[in-house]
Amino acid sequence: MFSVTCVAPVNIALIKYWGKRNEDLILPINDSVSMTLRTDELCAKTTITASESFYSNKMWLNGEEVPFEENTRILRCLNEVHRLAICAGSQKIPLSWKIHVKSFNNFPTAAGLASSAAGYACLVYSLACLYGIPVNDQLTTVARQGSGSACRSLYGGFVQWHRGNLDSGCDSVAKQVVSSNFWPNMHLIILVVNDQRKNTGSTLGMQRSVQTSQLIQHRADKVVPERVNQLKTAIHKHDFDTFAKITMKDSNQFHAIAMDTYPPCIYMNETSHSIVSFVHDFNELMGSSLIAYTFDAGPNACLYVLEENIPKIIYAINKAFPNDEESADYLRGIPLSNLDIKLKTKDNSFREKMELLKIQQKNKLKYIIHTKVGEGPRLLRANAR
Ligand code: DP6
Repeated sequence: MFSVTCVAPVNIALIKYWGKRNEDLILPINDSVSMTLRTDELCAKTTITASESFYSNKMWLNGEEVPFEENTRILRCLNEVHRLAICAGSQKIPLSWKIHVKSFNNFPTAAGLASSAAGYACLVYSLACLYGIPVNDQLTTVARQGSGSACRSLYGGFVQWHRGNLDSGCDSVAKQVVSSNFWPNMHLIILVVNDQRKNTGSTLGMQRSVQTSQLIQHRADKVVPERVNQLKTAIHKHDFDTFAKITMKDSNQFHAIAMDTYPPCIYMNETSHSIVSFVHDFNELMGSSLIAYTFDAGPNACLYVLEENIPKIIYAINKAFPNDEESADYLRGIPLSNLDIKLKTKDNSFREKMELLKIQQKNKLKYIIHTKVGEGPRLLRANAR
């Protein structure tokens, strides 16, 4: 009996993946770029055990058994890892042995935060550890076939998923742009919005967009290639202002395409839109872009910020989005107390400016998660019995 336990991170796209040219192989119509988050706050943790005595493959997600053999995406990942093991000549464990997979997310699924990306990245990374195959660009083509965005979670820092040109998908790989220590003060504040409404999932939503949106092809052909280059340059230069503008414009364009889909996919709600207005008002008052928002296929806001600006930003969020809850449960993740919000905000001219912010009704935000750029998946334990 062999078993491995691994963790894998969540990633949040700055340039969004939206639309496939091949549904089976999960080949995208455009490149995308994301930032990987550290695993302390958000991660998937997976244990895979392989044994000669297991009769069938089984899987549990957050303690509940889920179908394995009926899930084509999971089966494809397993078969692809087997193929890579054969190619690499790895004989660590017999491929005929059945496996049991137990996976947990350390964050509430209700938050709707890229759980499939972390989950599939963790599955594929754990399988690679189990069968003794290397983690490289080839492995990202396997994670991609679990869930497109999962391929970007196999690396830390900033990551680009190249759409590729081949029909086989061999060149549709994720590659690291820079590692997590390149821009270590890049943090993320997630505003979890008080909304449990069910939306059209990403897979179905993007399928509908490809079929019905007239804007999507223009985005893929003209807008994304230019934006990816500009964003990578901004990252390399630590140019937050440009980084912020590109990120916000790309989030807006993705939601414009979702709206141009017929019937439309509506992911952002009223609170999401008030967060957008808040960010623009705040940036305007501060004289430069200190916050960059991005929204995935749901109402929660991901705010990219630099560590040194966090005290002011949190002050402004608390001012514009007042909340009854002041407990640690409201502000989760990296503690903010040591960042000294009070000291930094003694600045009178800053406080005066903040008086100009529009104040929302109380309790529009459910809770806030503070995290930062992080590293790729890692092996926690490997046992042989
Ligand atoms: C809006 O990777 O969840 O988060 O490939 O069908 O599993 P499938 O879709 P998925 O889509 C993610 C879409 C997005 C943007 C992004 O992460 O790039």
